[in-house]
Amino acid sequence: MIAAYRRFSRHWLAVGLGTLLALHTAPAQNLLQGARIVVTTNTSPEASDWVSQVAFPKEGRFSLQLRAEFVVKDMPASPILSLKKPDPICEWRLNGQDLIGPPKDMFFPLLEGIPSSALKIGTNILEARYSVNVYLREGKLSPANAGNYQLDLSPGDPARFEFRSGPVLGAAGHDYFIVGCRTRMPARVTLECDGRTWVSKPGVIHRLRADGLKAGNSYSYKLVARLVDGNATAESKAWTVRIPPREGAQTFVALGDARNNPKIWEHIAGEALKMKPDFAMHTGDIVGNGNDYEAWDREFLKPAAEFLATIPCFYTFGNHENNVAMLYQLFGFPQDDRSSFTETVGAVQVISLNRFENWGKGSPNLVRMEKELAASKAPFIFAITHPPAWSSGAHGNDPLGTEVHFPIFDRYGVTAEIAGHDHCYERSEPGGTTMLIAGGGGAGLYPQEKLAQNPHSKIFRSEYNFLLFKTDGGECELKAYTYGGTKTPDDQRKLELVDTRTWTARKPAAATEPTPAEK
Ligand SMILES: [Fe+2]
Repeated sequence: MIAAYRRFSRHWLAVGLGTLLALHTAPAQNLLQGARIVVTTNTSPEASDWVSQVAFPKEGRFSLQLRAEFVVKDMPASPILSLKKPDPICEWRLNGQDLIGPPKDMFFPLLEGIPSSALKIGTNILEARYSVNVYLREGKLSPANAGNYQLDLSPGDPARFEFRSGPVLGAAGHDYFIVGCRTRMPARVTLECDGRTWVSKPGVIHRLRADGLKAGNSYSYKLVARLVDGNATAESKAWTVRIPPREGAQTFVALGDARNNPKIWEHIAGEALKMKPDFAMHTGDIVGNGNDYEAWDREFLKPAAEFLATIPCFYTFGNHENNVAMLYQLFGFPQDDRSSFTETVGAVQVISLNRFENWGKGSPNLVRMEKELAASKAPFIFAITHPPAWSSGAHGNDPLGTEVHFPIFDRYGVTAEIAGHDHCYERSEPGGTTMLIAGGGGAGLYPQEKLAQNPHSKIFRSEYNFLLFKTDGGECELKAYTYGGTKTPDDQRKLELVDTRTWTARKPAAATEPTPAEK
C-alpha cells in the first residue's frame, strides 16, 4: 500500500499505484520531497485497491487521479514540474487552479512556468487526471504496473523564458497572414507588423492574424512574448513575409509526410525554400505522433524553421496528427474556425479537405465545396487532402476520393488533387482532374504495390520529393523534384527533375445538372 524508493536518481520521486509515501531523500529543491501521493481510480471498482506492481484486473481504459500533498517552506520562483515518464498524464491542477500547459490530448515531459502565485506557504495539493489503456499482450495484461510516474517539482528560472517553436506561418490571403508559435511558459505573444500589433491570449500555443495588408507587398514581422507570471520577455528575430499578389506570375510548392525523418525534411524544406515560393501546401502527416508535444519541434518545426517562418502554408492534416487540439491552435486557416477551407491567391484557389471531418456524400462540407467550386472564377484550383483518391502505392485508392470527390472535381474543372499518405511521388491522369501524390517529405518510402487499382498512373517514384508549380498567364506548370530514395547515400542526394505537366486555365463552372452532393 505504501511504498517509496529511490529510482534512477535522487531527483526523482517514484510513484506507484495505490497510496504512496515518499521516504527517500531527494534534493532540497524538489518540492515533492516527502509528499504524500495517492493514486486512485474513479471508474472501476475492481481496480480501486491497486498497489504498486499489481496488474490491472482486465482490459480497458481506466481513468486515474493523482493527488500529491506537500509542504512548501520557501516560495520558489517559476516552478517546473518534470515527468520522467510523461505519458499519459497531461492535466494538472495546483491548489484547485488549472495549470496552463499544452492541450489535454498531448503528453509532455515538462510543465514549465507554473505561477508561484498558485503555491502557498504550508500545505499544497497537486492533482492530475489521466487515463491508461490496459490491453492483452502475449496473454498478459499490459501495462502491468502503469502509474509508476516519477515526478519532480523544482524551482525554475524565469530568465530561461523563451520561444519553444516558431514562428510558423499558416494561411495567407491578399490582405492578411497568420502566424503561430509556442512558448515554454505561459505567455502573451504580440505580433508586430506594419507598425501595428496583435496580442494573443495567455497560453503556451499562440496564433495571430495580421490583416489590412497590401497584396504583393513584403512585410517584416516579429513576435514578442511576455511571461504571464513575471516580467521576462522573449523576441523572435525579424522575419519577412510576402502577402500573395492578386495578379502576375506565381510560384508555389506542395509537400507532405514530413514525419519521423527530420534530416530529410530539413533538406526538402530547404530545397523548396530555394525556389522562393509565394506559398506552400502541406498534405499532412506532419509528425509521427501528434500527441507527442516535443515531436513537433524535433520532427517538423525546428528542421524547417526558416521555411516555416517565411512561406505562408495551407495545411491539411493526416492520420498521424491524431486530430490533436493543437492543430487548430497553432496553424492558421483562412476562415478561422474551419480547418476545411478555401482561399484564392492570385490565379490559384486552394481547397483543403480535412479528412478528420465528414466529407461523404451529402455532407455539409461537400455541399459547401460544390457551391464554392460553382462560384469560382479561379483559373486553377488545387484540392489538398491526405489520402489520395487514386494511388498505386501501399495504401491504394480511397473510394471516397474516386467515387465521390473526383466526379465533382471533374465537373468543375479542378486542376489537380494533391495528396500524401503514400510516401512516393505519383501522377495519375484519370481523365479530367489530375491526381498528384507528394508524400515524400521524409517518412519511410513506399513501393508501387497496387498498380492494378490505379491504371491511370503515369509516373511513380519511390523517392523523397516536393512539387513546384508556376502560373503565368493562362498556364500552370508543374515540376516534380525527387531527392533520392531510402538507399541513396546522403552525399549523393541531389534534386532530380522527374516529371513535368502543364495545365491551361480552367473555364469557370458551367454545371447545370444536379450534382452528386445534392442528389
Ligand atoms: Fe498518412
